[in-house]
Amino acid sequence: MAYKYETVAADIRAMVASSLSPHQAIPSERELEATHGVSRLTIRHAIATLIDEGLLYNVHGSGTFVGSPTLFSKTPKLTSFTEDMKSRGHEASSRLLTMSREPASTETAHALGIPAGTECARLRRLRLADGEPIAVEDVRVPGPLLDIEEFTSTSSLYEVLADAGHEVYRAEQEIKAIALDEEAAHLLRVPLGTPALGVSRVSSDRRGRSIEYAFTLYRADRYTFQLAVTREADK
Ligand code: GLP
Repeated sequence: MAYKYETVAADIRAMVASSLSPHQAIPSERELEATHGVSRLTIRHAIATLIDEGLLYNVHGSGTFVGSPTLFSKTPKLTSFTEDMKSRGHEASSRLLTMSREPASTETAHALGIPAGTECARLRRLRLADGEPIAVEDVRVPGPLLDIEEFTSTSSLYEVLADAGHEVYRAEQEIKAIALDEEAAHLLRVPLGTPALGVSRVSSDRRGRSIEYAFTLYRADRYTFQLAVTREADK
């Protein structure tokens, strides 16, 4: 069962998505308290969660406002694209570009820690949020872990893998700036050369076995990464 604050947060998310623009104020705590019939504490908890997600921001003494339309990735949690979009109040979907089985290149083999030439499943997908293209993704999964015959455009890769007993647990990522080439720019419906965030991810299961080598190109105008960092205590 969802906690009350989660229900309120979901309602606010839906309200933002359907009727509020960036930098517009959300109803006051008092109004939300009245419309939801919950305590002020619950309202504050819900708002704090949404501020943490990057959906809202607070201006001291003025109120709480809708954040900019970028899809924030704030917590360093390991999520699938589907989960990532959902947590930001967007619905993920995909268009399958190509699906094949092919021998691992030296680069893929090195990333996955498998011998070069090992057969891998390869998926290239256009990833969308509420129907808008956000990222182009190219993923390789080693050997028999993924049955591509069963994979469809509505499948979540992480769900399919988990169902087959290969749950993604940990990932190493590298993020770099990339200018989109013609194909990616066309797919993402932006001008050629638009900057993008290229994210390489190597994921593994709890036992440390590699599960995927993925390269995702996110539109930099629509997607940002935010990381919380902590200074280590002085020894
Ligand atoms: C993110 C990751 C990819 C991963 C994908 C799975 O985009 N960067 O490495 O393959 O999620 O997403 P889903 O389970 O929605 O198909």
